[in-house]
Amino acid sequence: MQRDPLREGRLGSERPEDVAAYLSSMAADRWIAGADIQVDVAHLMMLTRQEIIDPGLAKAIMEVLLEIHDGGLPATVYDDRYEDIHAGIEAYLIDRVGIDIGGRLHMGRSRNDEVATCIRVRLREELIACMGELLELREVLVTTAGQHTGTIMPGFTHLQHAQPTTLAHHLLSYEAAFGRDFDRMRDSIARINLCPLGAAAFASTGYPIDREYTASLLGFDGLAENTMDAVSGRDFVLEAISDCAMLMTAASRLCEEIVFWSSAFVAFIRLSDAYCSTSSIMPQKKNPDVAEIMRGKTGTVAGALSAGITLVKGLPMSYNRDLQELTPHLWSAVAATRSSVALLSGLLGAAAFNTDRMAEEADRGFATATELADVLVRDFGLPFRTAHGIVGRAVRKGRLDLATLEGAAGEIAGLSLVDLGVTDGVVSAALDAAYGIRVRRAPGGPAPEATERAIRERQRVLEADLIWVRTRTDRLEKALSDMIADARELIQ
Ligand code: ARG
Repeated sequence: MQRDPLREGRLGSERPEDVAAYLSSMAADRWIAGADIQVDVAHLMMLTRQEIIDPGLAKAIMEVLLEIHDGGLPATVYDDRYEDIHAGIEAYLIDRVGIDIGGRLHMGRSRNDEVATCIRVRLREELIACMGELLELREVLVTTAGQHTGTIMPGFTHLQHAQPTTLAHHLLSYEAAFGRDFDRMRDSIARINLCPLGAAAFASTGYPIDREYTASLLGFDGLAENTMDAVSGRDFVLEAISDCAMLMTAASRLCEEIVFWSSAFVAFIRLSDAYCSTSSIMPQKKNPDVAEIMRGKTGTVAGALSAGITLVKGLPMSYNRDLQELTPHLWSAVAATRSSVALLSGLLGAAAFNTDRMAEEADRGFATATELADVLVRDFGLPFRTAHGIVGRAVRKGRLDLATLEGAAGEIAGLSLVDLGVTDGVVSAALDAAYGIRVRRAPGGPAPEATERAIRERQRVLEADLIWVRTRTDRLEKALSDMIADARELIQ
């Protein structure tokens, strides 16, 4: 470890190892180490352009920064006797070029604006990558839905057989939820991709800095303008964790269904062995462990959100060191979410659906009774509540056929369905699950013509979302590679 230049003045350099390790954010800073070099390069280019630093000295610093950018960070910068990666990199720089040169990079900035910038640089990249992975999951759902617009299955409320639907309809409901998760992340990027640099400790700086220039070099869309807010605001972090928690909540519900569907009681799905584990004692077991771990990780992500809000809520303006404790929760939430989304696509893509079992269960428990009541209303003029009562009473008698319905109609409403023209044929046609699905053709419903329409529409949305992800990714990569190219010119 190089000497820690931060501790040469006000404090003695010596600090017990346990205190140093306790204070250090080094473990989590591995996430932002690459971003920190980019932020250093941008800051140095701004200092140079604004003639705050002598060009010859800037060149010497830039040579080291670009060497690190190209060759990776030296191991010494990660020593957790440094408080953080910023101190580690500065110490390395000073060791390489001497304090008279290396000691000038930190002019007009603080670790406070530096770390906030690094988190934003890294987070936008992570979220956009997550959105790309989410797109793949949504594609698997839409494609699988397209293969199952005619696959009839039971739909549940209260986990009781309720009404028949189709597998396409069921899968599209998840795609709708994941689509909103995608939109939420895209909306969050607008608030994340703003640059705190130039805020310094919190009160900005008296050097003639150019905040817009560093912001544009780093591919930001604008400034996190108020400098006190720029260093202390972490709602962008809480928002990102919340996006992840919400996404994971939907994923966890799907996982719950996968676990349920793969149980022998239900047997709607057969998972690929790749996504299952066995038991150390029960040799016959095939357990849906990936889905279960994912349900569990949702708790981890929700916990990160709760920890984050609790951490931030009592902090006065502006920067407080507590904020350092927030960042690991962010990375843990992002990592859990990204790995889950990617695995969920693979798991679903490799699963086999048992459509015979689904069909078998579709009308269990009088699940087609609603349509029968509706037929009595639509074709025979009964008020819905009367029809509902008659069908319910017939179910209570244990069977849904013309005889029980006729008896029920007499009891409930003192009328004869037979006199109204209801026949055996009418009853059995109304109780056919396929018929009930065919007539539910309103937008968003399970009828094949409705789900086929929905699938076409969602494919259009997916294409637009893919263009957004690609454009954003390319724009950020271009900004950063242009900046590095400009930096190389500086050292020519
Ligand atoms: N490691 C710190 C963090 O993550 C960086 C900022 C430190 N600032 C300070 N004034 N001690 O928040």
